[in-house]
Amino acid sequence: MKKDKIKIGILGFGVVGTGTYRVLTENFEAIKKQVGAEIVVEKILMRDMSKKRLIDVPDRMVTTKPEDILENSDIDIVVELMGGEEPAYSYIMRALENGKHVVTANKELMAKKGSSILEKADNNGLSFGFEASVCGGIPIIRAFKRSLCTDKVKRIMGIVNGTTNYILTKMTQEGSGYEDVLKEAQAKGYAEADPTADVEGYDAAYKMAILSSIGFHTKLDINMIRREGISGVSKSDILYGKDLGWTIKLLGIAQEIDGKLEVAVSPVMLPAEHPLASVNGVNNAVFVNSEAVGELMFYGPGAGQMATGNSVASDIMEIARQIVLDNKTLPNCSCFDVKAFAEEPESSFYLRLDVINRPGVLAKIAGVFGNYGVSLESVLQKKTEGERAEIVWITSKVKESSFKKAIEFIKYMDVVNEVSSIIRVEANGHC
Ligand code: NAP
Ligand code: HSE
Repeated sequence: MKKDKIKIGILGFGVVGTGTYRVLTENFEAIKKQVGAEIVVEKILMRDMSKKRLIDVPDRMVTTKPEDILENSDIDIVVELMGGEEPAYSYIMRALENGKHVVTANKELMAKKGSSILEKADNNGLSFGFEASVCGGIPIIRAFKRSLCTDKVKRIMGIVNGTTNYILTKMTQEGSGYEDVLKEAQAKGYAEADPTADVEGYDAAYKMAILSSIGFHTKLDINMIRREGISGVSKSDILYGKDLGWTIKLLGIAQEIDGKLEVAVSPVMLPAEHPLASVNGVNNAVFVNSEAVGELMFYGPGAGQMATGNSVASDIMEIARQIVLDNKTLPNCSCFDVKAFAEEPESSFYLRLDVINRPGVLAKIAGVFGNYGVSLESVLQKKTEGERAEIVWITSKVKESSFKKAIEFIKYMDVVNEVSSIIRVEANGHC
């Protein structure tokens, strides 16, 4: 008999949990018409019943016992919105063992254990949705899985963390201080429970792992992704960037070169005219190069209650439709390969040095770069204060190991006070 009600259980009722609930209830009638059945929230797991929530829900829905959802034979879809590795992983596996379809927004879990979770869902003939795990409100996973799946992806460049983009935008446009803007991003519900995940690039690395896995059809080890956050980016670097015609963004870059993968997350100086340079605030964007289509860009809010809630709700609706139509589920995992990582990535670098203000210093440092095979594109000296001078160097594309060796030497030179900052430069950004 055709089902007229699809029942869901939500694990976790914070920013995304309440957003999902609101989208499902506020758009209830339109969703019902598209699915051909009602989507009903049956139970919501909360840790602390007394805590004030962003919205009120009927008492009968609320529980503090996970088994009221995981072992509840009325529930068709379990929606995990707690975050973190445990108990999220155990709960999801239990839901799949009990024949329930699952939806999650948990990028950390998907990046670290996604392949075993998807394998379990596939083996049990169940659907698994994780659209909200990358780029909040942007339907990026659906675009990769349903549209770019026939093409060959060559490169993915993305601003995939809303919190850090919000911070960098405010620092660039308004000269705001890092700590103050981080507090604002937390208050707006953009940041992770522990914002270190955002500012140190972990969250972006999780998302790049997920996108790379789908885009390049490969399983990959998250520990192989080079990762650096924005905590070292200073107002000085932002101002030098502006002078050079560049904008600083926390970028994830993934590419396949000669069958080998390069995946990295770091602050990058990007030409101001590049489409990603004008992606501001909490917005995210993913710029894709693929063989058949060419250049594509996906843009939208990368975090937040309603935008992310909509991505979760859209996964729930897609699965509900399948249940109503009695469809077979599609395979969840498209990561059929295991591609190796490239050993020697290349990049151009921006380097800011605090040096002794004396004739011949520039030549000495340039000589060291030459010894390590690092070619230089340009040098800028704007600030001198008595004994000290600030010098900015831009290198040509070099092997990272050669650059690091040169820096190891330079930092101990008697004419160098400090290596103030090093930022990658993406001079072109197109394939
Ligand atoms: P959040 O506001 O901190 O909400 C998480 C909720 O889960 C909290 O209400 C927390 O309860 C509850 N919870 C945690 N552990 C639990 C447990 N063991 N049992 C019961 N409840 C538990 O986080 P969020 O921003 O909604 O994020 C949820 C997930 O979505 C995360 O995986 C996050 O990475 C992902 N995500 C977030 C966004 C965003 O814009 N915020 C966007 C995309 C993806 P307490 O309130 O009692 O602590
Ligand atoms: N903390 C994340 C961000 C939430 O700022 O992008 C969305 O995944």
